Amino acid sequence: MSPKINQVVNPARLEFVLEQRKKYPMTWDILTPLPSWIKKEGKIDIHRNVFFSEQGFGFQWSGPEYLRIPHRGNIILGPKVEIFSGTNIVRPTLNDTRIGEGTKIDYNCHIAHNVNIGKHCLIIAGTILGGSVTIGDNCYLGIGCMIKNKVKIGNNVTIGMGAVVLNDVPDNYVMVGNPAKLLRNG
Ligand SMILES: CC(C)(COP(=O)(O)OP(=O)(O)OC[C@H]1O[C@@H](n2cnc3c(N)ncnc32)[C@H](O)[C@@H]1OP(=O)(O)O)[C@@H](O)C(=O)NCCC(=O)NCCS
Repeated sequence: MSPKINQVVNPARLEFVLEQRKKYPMTWDILTPLPSWIKKEGKIDIHRNVFFSEQGFGFQWSGPEYLRIPHRGNIILGPKVEIFSGTNIVRPTLNDTRIGEGTKIDYNCHIAHNVNIGKHCLIIAGTILGGSVTIGDNCYLGIGCMIKNKVKIGNNVTIGMGAVVLNDVPDNYVMVGNPAKLLRNG
């Protein structure tokens, strides 16, 4: 299986980065206050102007009108989760939802209600995850991809930039295009 684009250890590069980190120490910091329904399991980084939206865009048609569905669940952020500015994370309806250890979410992403994200994922700028999407561990979601509501993405999956994913994706797949199709397995 070819190494994943985001999880290749380049010893020379790693040494350089470790030196830089020693020179310019970085702390874990929460720069946007966390509402009570966000729970953290360790040190996390929440950059300025992250949006935690208390009311998800969920409605029930009653006949004459749409009724707003209450959103009362919690979001659990694993240790070393990092979320960059402009990203919007929506409160779930009933169950807890989780963003797993070490996952990093870039600028201006939208994470809709009832989404679950595994460990050590990179979610790049402009990504949109529809409601009830599940993302496995070690996934890489390229710039501006969109995942349809309720789709399940396996572990070690790469989604190319701009892809529109309409169906579940098995472990290790690399998907590209609109509609997204398999580029390779592994
Ligand atoms: C999906 C991806 C990982 C594939 O990378 P790769 O294995 O090096 O693929 P290649 O560049 O060799 O391209 C292989 C084929 O897939 C196509 N392809 C690659 N990425 C594509 C994409 N995002 N959308 C549509 N087609 C894509 C190429 O055109 C090529 O097609 P061809 O064989 O018909 O010529 C990569 O293109 C990608 O989208 N990476 C994410 C980039 C990103 O978000 N970067 C953020 C950094 S801040």
